[in-house]
Amino acid sequence: MFTQEAKAIAEMIPSRPKIAVVLGSGLGGLVSKVQDAKCISYSGIKSLPVPTAPSHNGRFVFGKLGGRDIVLMDGRVHLYEGYTPQQVVAPIRLLRAIGVDTIILTNAAGGINKNLSVGDFMMIEDHISMFVPSPLIGSNDESLGTRFPDMSNAYSKELQRIVIKSAMNIGIDIKRGVYAQLTGPQFETPAEIKALSALGADSVGMSTVIESIAANHCGMRVAGISMIANMACGILDKPLSGEDVNEAAGQSANEFQALITEIVRNIE
Ligand code: HPA
Repeated sequence: MFTQEAKAIAEMIPSRPKIAVVLGSGLGGLVSKVQDAKCISYSGIKSLPVPTAPSHNGRFVFGKLGGRDIVLMDGRVHLYEGYTPQQVVAPIRLLRAIGVDTIILTNAAGGINKNLSVGDFMMIEDHISMFVPSPLIGSNDESLGTRFPDMSNAYSKELQRIVIKSAMNIGIDIKRGVYAQLTGPQFETPAEIKALSALGADSVGMSTVIESIAANHCGMRVAGISMIANMACGILDKPLSGEDVNEAAGQSANEFQALITEIVRNIE
């Protein structure tokens, strides 16, 4: 899968990064920290979907971060844009085809657990995927992965240790929890947040889980980090807006950039 596209990228980019970072809403500022950055627009690669969401660029950024070769996905697509789950995970599969084996998925999320506060970072320990269609539905490409992938370690324990150590190194009190993905684009109702809380979700958003499923399926190690951009509906008596989510993400930009850089530096 994506052999042609991977070959085309290899011809344009001399580096062969093994680490990728997917940047969530409002978190694209990390691009400015990449040295020797070389960008490839998704629109220039046939078969990749192009983001329509506000604040999502649509490009791969290759270069060096924390002394390592990396590729950033600056912008992602979402189910609510009308893309199929398979389209949403296409860039993840392309990254695998170019040799990436470790991926850090990030997002701006709503905090459900009352121990979380706006501006916190939550390391994703596990996820709830039941409210979104699986990207693995349909015929299985055995060259990518098995028909029935195990999901008991969807978020690599080894990477979780590195995330915690990295946060400690730079003085960030990182939280941990379970992330649930819903399709959106509407925010949840208070009843839905109560239900998600009862199911064990600590944060909620409109991305990440199906990417994690696809990345696990094709054999990547996955880490996940939510930036808590707002408390979820009904947790505080405050209406939600997409603009507020982006603004909160922007306010945490410096910490986010330092955290991701430190994680990348520490990845073995
Ligand atoms: N709900 C769903 N998605 C989100 C939220 C939220 O509260 N905040 C940021 N993305």
